Amino acid sequence: MNDLDSLVQHARSAFDAAPTAAELENAKARFLGKSGSLTELLKGLAALPPEAKKARGAEINQAKQQVEVLLGAARERLAQAELEAQLRAEALDVSLPGRSRGTGGLHPVSRTIERIEAIFSSMGFDVAEGPEIETDWMSFTALNNPENHPARSMQDTFYVELKDAEGRWLNLRPHTSPMQVRYARAHAARYAGASPMPEVRVIAPGRVYRVDSDATHSPMFHQIEGLWLGENVSFKDLKVTFATLVREFFETDDFDVRFRPSFFPFTEPSAEIDIRFGSGPLAGKWLEVAGSGQVHPNVVRNFGLDPEQQIGFAFGIGADRFAMLRYGIDDLRLMFDGDLRFLSQFR
Ligand code: DAH
Repeated sequence: MNDLDSLVQHARSAFDAAPTAAELENAKARFLGKSGSLTELLKGLAALPPEAKKARGAEINQAKQQVEVLLGAARERLAQAELEAQLRAEALDVSLPGRSRGTGGLHPVSRTIERIEAIFSSMGFDVAEGPEIETDWMSFTALNNPENHPARSMQDTFYVELKDAEGRWLNLRPHTSPMQVRYARAHAARYAGASPMPEVRVIAPGRVYRVDSDATHSPMFHQIEGLWLGENVSFKDLKVTFATLVREFFETDDFDVRFRPSFFPFTEPSAEIDIRFGSGPLAGKWLEVAGSGQVHPNVVRNFGLDPEQQIGFAFGIGADRFAMLRYGIDDLRLMFDGDLRFLSQFR
C-alpha cells in the first residue's frame, strides 16, 4: 500500500468514527484543510522535477477526490442519523390509550325530577320554578298559616334575620308550596275577568330547607309541588293523577295508593299519600311519598281567585323519596355528599 492509499484509509476511518457533524468537520480539516495532509503533499510538488511532478500530482488529486467522496458519504450518514434521532424524539405512540376526560352525568335527583316533569307535562301540567329565599307571607301567611299559629312549627324553618326591600321577613323556603301562591296569583292577574277562568295546572320542583338532619332528613332536600284548580276538579282527579304518576314513574301496575287523613293548614281535607308495591324489594310496605289535599278556600282567595268558582287540589311530592325508591338508595345523605363513587353509578 503506498502512502496515498494509506492516507485514504486513514481518512475513511476518521470519517466513519466521527460521531457528530462538528467532529466530522474537524477530521476533514486534518486531510483537506489549509495545513491538512493532502494540502501539504500538494505543496511538496513544487520541489519535484517536472516529469515526476505531473505523475505525482495526478495521484495526489485522485486521492483527494477519493477523500472528498468519503467526506460526502460521511456527511450524508450523519445527517440521516440526526433526522432519525429527531423523528424518534418527537414520535407519537399511536398505540397509547387516550387521556379521557370522563363523562359527566345527571344527579339521581335531577334525573328523577326530569322524569316526573315529563310525566306531568304529558298530563297537561306546566312546570314552574321559584325563589328559594321567600317572604314569610308566601311561605306561610298566604297558605292559611297565620303568624304565631302552632302549625308553623311543623316545618322546622330556617328563619333568617333579614328583610327584603319592602321590609318583609325572609326565610329559606321550607316547602315548595309558596310556588302555588306565586303561580296562581300570576295566573289570576293574567286572566283577570276571563269567563270561564282557564284552569291552573302546574308543578313546581325545587330545593327546600329545614332544620333537620339524619338518615332520612337533610337540611336541604327536594320537593315537587303540584296544583290543579278548575271549576270541577275533585279528589278523584287527584287520585287518577297520582296513580298515573306512580305507574309511569315506576313502570309497574302492581301497586296501591292510599290517602291517609292528615292536617295541613292550606288544605281541607288533607291527606298523606302512601304507596305500596305488590312486588319487588319493597313489596307490602306502605311508603309515604307526598302530602296533599283540597285547596282551602282562604288560600284560593289569597291566590286572587274565587273559591266558589275555583276548586281543586294541591300536593307536595318528596322528590328525593322517589329517587331513593327508584334506585334502591337507603340513606338520603349519600345523595348530597358529592362522592363520585356513589354518583358515577348514575352516569
Ligand atoms: N308543603 C307540605 C310539606 O312540605 C306538603 C304539602 C301538603 C303540599 C299538602 C301541598 C299540600 O301542596 O296540598 O310538608
